[in-house]
Amino acid sequence: MLGGAGEEGFGLALRWAIAGHQVFVGSRSTDRAVEAAKTITQTAGRPVRVSGVSNENAVAQADIVVVTVPFAALIETLRTLKPKFRSGQILVNVSVPLETSIGGRATRTVGVWAGSAGELAATVVPNTVGVVTAFNNVSAELLKDPSKPVDCDVFVCSNDENAKKIVLDLVKGIAGARGFDAGGLENSRTIEQITALLVSLNIRYKVKSAGLRVTGISPVS
Ligand SMILES: NC(=O)c1ccc[n+]([C@@H]2O[C@H](COP(=O)([O-])OP(=O)(O)OC[C@H]3O[C@@H](n4cnc5c(N)ncnc54)[C@H](OP(=O)(O)O)[C@@H]3O)[C@@H](O)[C@H]2O)c1
Repeated sequence: MLGGAGEEGFGLALRWAIAGHQVFVGSRSTDRAVEAAKTITQTAGRPVRVSGVSNENAVAQADIVVVTVPFAALIETLRTLKPKFRSGQILVNVSVPLETSIGGRATRTVGVWAGSAGELAATVVPNTVGVVTAFNNVSAELLKDPSKPVDCDVFVCSNDENAKKIVLDLVKGIAGARGFDAGGLENSRTIEQITALLVSLNIRYKVKSAGLRVTGISPVS
């Protein structure tokens, strides 16, 4: 989990640790990562497999790397870590190109030359890494309290069908979430825009956890 001591990364790490996954919380500061890992164990209230490590060690040790850094830090983070990636790894991009990353409003996104943050991430990591967009519409506020199911759906898109299937399985570790196969990686463009809309709803309705539910179809099993 790159940026795993932050809001979104912490919430996802917490949910997956509780679901029984081995989680490496990554940070630019190992101390911050270790602290976040301790808080995850305390919040879980029982032994879980979570370690706080540097971002470099997180990439070196994990099979699935999840990036939850602000959009402004996405390219630099992945570029720096590129030599650590291994063939066959999966990269899940959760970052959204919200305007806030350049000092603007969280209710709008910035134009991304690659089309979306997910597609941009794919241009940076080695092409032997399966890049997936997912969890961009799940609020950190929903994730941080494991006593409550999250009550939202997760769109998962990728050009790598196997990577997509593995990430759809990861969704099942988050109580209340349902994963939907959202097609190829270019659909990151739409998925990321939805986050800006959800932020706008949060502001208008004075909440922190607006989410999304799909009706009319059953999610993949
Ligand atoms: N918060 C949400 O509800 C939510 C929901 C969906 C998607 N997202 C997306 O998830 C991403 C993270 O959001 P967040 O709210 O978790 O953000 P955050 O707490 O502000 O930042 C996450 C982590 O990113 C790292 N970071 C910050 N600036 C950095 C830099 N310049 N270079 C490298 N690393 C840096 C920090 O980790 P270290 O200092 O420990 O290295 C920080 O803890 C964003 O792209 C956001 O759009 C957020």
